[in-house]
Amino acid sequence: MALYSEKVMDHFRNPRNVGVIEDADGVGEVGNARCGDIMKFYIKVENDIITDIKFETFGCGSAIASASMATELIKGQPVERALELTNRAVVEALDGLPAHKIHCSVLAEEVIKAALKDYYDKHGIAYDPALFAETHDCEHCDV
Ligand code: FES
Repeated sequence: MALYSEKVMDHFRNPRNVGVIEDADGVGEVGNARCGDIMKFYIKVENDIITDIKFETFGCGSAIASASMATELIKGQPVERALELTNRAVVEALDGLPAHKIHCSVLAEEVIKAALKDYYDKHGIAYDPALFAETHDCEHCDV
């Protein structure tokens, strides 16, 4: 069996929504302590819907595929739905990642939350800090 699914290879070779949104409503950037890779997301929000999203990453192929899939999963979705996106959902949508690459999908979950938090902060929208308190440690993931 191939190490990477066809979906992973597709999103790695043809990543969706790569780039920068200059007038983004929210920007999030996170780094992965394990590998030192970095991911940055930009979102546009209108009427509580994520109307546009772009990403940049200095990361591995699995990080690129995870970010690309994550953007597809939350584009057009309400902010609340995007907040619920887990790395597990990203991995499932990619038809799996090798166990030692699960942490790359965690980066995608964390960066979405960082961009949404920035959106809330910039727009003076009240939120429950507990929503962002959890720091996801992929060593404890059971995906
Ligand atoms: Fe660093 Fe994949 S190895 S994000």
